[in-house]
Amino acid sequence: MDKSDKVVLKCIDCGKEYKPVDVYECACGGLLDVNINLDWVSKVVSRDVFNKRLGSREKIFQSGVWRYRELVNPMADDLCIVSRPEGNTSLYEHRKLVEYSGVKDIKLKHEGENPTGSFKDRGMSPGVSEAVRLKMKVVACASTGNTSASMAAYASMAGLKPVVFIPEGKIAYGKLSQALAYGAKVIQIEGNFDDAMNLVRESSRRLGMYLLNSVNPWRIEGQKTIMIELMHQLAWKSPDWIAVPAGNLGNTSAFGKALEELYKLELIYDMPRIASIQAEGANPLYQTWSKKSEKLLSVGHPETIATAIKIGNPVSWKKALRALKVTNGVVEQVSDQEIMDAKAKIDGSGIGCEPASAASLAGVKKLVESGVIDRKEKVVCIITGNILKDSEATVKYHLDELADIKATYSNQPTAIKPDLEEVEKVIKA
Ligand code: F0G
Repeated sequence: MDKSDKVVLKCIDCGKEYKPVDVYECACGGLLDVNINLDWVSKVVSRDVFNKRLGSREKIFQSGVWRYRELVNPMADDLCIVSRPEGNTSLYEHRKLVEYSGVKDIKLKHEGENPTGSFKDRGMSPGVSEAVRLKMKVVACASTGNTSASMAAYASMAGLKPVVFIPEGKIAYGKLSQALAYGAKVIQIEGNFDDAMNLVRESSRRLGMYLLNSVNPWRIEGQKTIMIELMHQLAWKSPDWIAVPAGNLGNTSAFGKALEELYKLELIYDMPRIASIQAEGANPLYQTWSKKSEKLLSVGHPETIATAIKIGNPVSWKKALRALKVTNGVVEQVSDQEIMDAKAKIDGSGIGCEPASAASLAGVKKLVESGVIDRKEKVVCIITGNILKDSEATVKYHLDELADIKATYSNQPTAIKPDLEEVEKVIKA
C-alpha cells in the first residue's frame, strides 16, 4: 500500500474526500477529518510495539507524539518530521487535589511540560512536519498566545517563516515574549481572538500561507496523543472521566477522535467520559450543548481572566459536539473565581499551571458537587499550560489586586527591614 493510500481527508459537513495534499479546509468551508485506515494500523501496531518504543534510543520514538506515528500521520517520513521531542508529560497525584475536588482517585496530566510550555507542541510537531512535507515556506496562525509560541518555535526550527495574528493587548506576556523571541512576524489585530481567526483564515487562503490553527486537521492528529499517551501510562485501563479546559475546542475534538480510535483498535475496552470545561464569560460550547442547539450559540464579547480560552466563536465546535456524543460527555462552566482558586490549589501542590488549565479541576469540583461525577470514580484532569505563561495573573491573585476575584488562598509576600529580629518574627508568625 502506498503511504498516501492509508489516509483520506474527509469533510465533516458535505462528506467530500480529498487526497492528503495541501488542503486543510473543504471547498464548502467545512472542517476536514484525517481518516487513517485503522485496519492497516491494527496490523502494524500493538501494545507491545508501543512498549518497545518506550525504551528505544531512536529519537523519533522518544517523542510522545511520534511514538504513536501510525495514529498521527502515516505519510510522515523521518526526514520531514520536526520534533523537540514533545510529550512524555507526567501524571501527578496530590492530597490537596483529593481534598479540593472530593475525588479519591484524581490525577493531573501536565501538558505544560511540553517544550514550549503547553499542549500545543503535540499538534504543532505534526502540523509543521506536514508543512515541510508539502514544501510550504510560510506558516500562519491566530492565537491567544500558546499556539503562536509553539508555531514560532517549530517553524523557526524547520526554517519556515512563522506569521502570527494575535488580539492586541490581550495575550499573556510570557506567550508574547516567546513568539517574538522565536522569531515570528507578530501581527496585532484590533479586536479579539475570533477577529484574528477570521482574518488569518482569509489571509492564508489568499496569500498562500499554510494555516496551522486547529482548523488544520494534522494539529488534531497530534493532540490525539495526549489521550494515547495517557492510556499507555495507565496500562490501557481507562479512567471514568477526562476533564479538559475548552476554548477553540481542538482538544475536546482530538480527545473524542483518539478515544474512538483506541476503542475500535481494542487498545482500550472502556470509553471514558469527557468533561469539557469552559469559563462562564466565554461559554459558547456550554450554551450550545446545554440548550441542545444544532447551531453554535456564539458569544459576542467573551470575557475571562483565563485569556487562553477567551473565545466566543470556536472553530471546532461541530467536532467537539461529536466527541461529546461518542464519549457520553458533558460540558460545565466555571467562574473566574473558581478558576483562580483551583489554580491556587494546583500551584500550592507544587505542580503549577496557567489560569485556563485550572478550569479542568474547577470543573471537576463543580461536577462532583452536582452529583454528575461520583467521588469514587477515577478522574484525570488535563493541565494545558505552564505556570510561567501568565505570571501577572498569579501575582495579582496573591496580592489581591484582581478586580472581582477574591484572593481566597492568598500567599502574600512580607516586607521587612534587613534585620534578624524581624526575620524571626516573620518565621514564627
Ligand atoms: N488551555 C490553554 C493553556 C490554551 O492555550 C488553550 C488554547 C486552551 C486551553 C483551549 O484549548 O482550544 O483546544 O479548546 N489556546 C489557543 C491558542 C486558542 O491560541 O493558544 P482548545
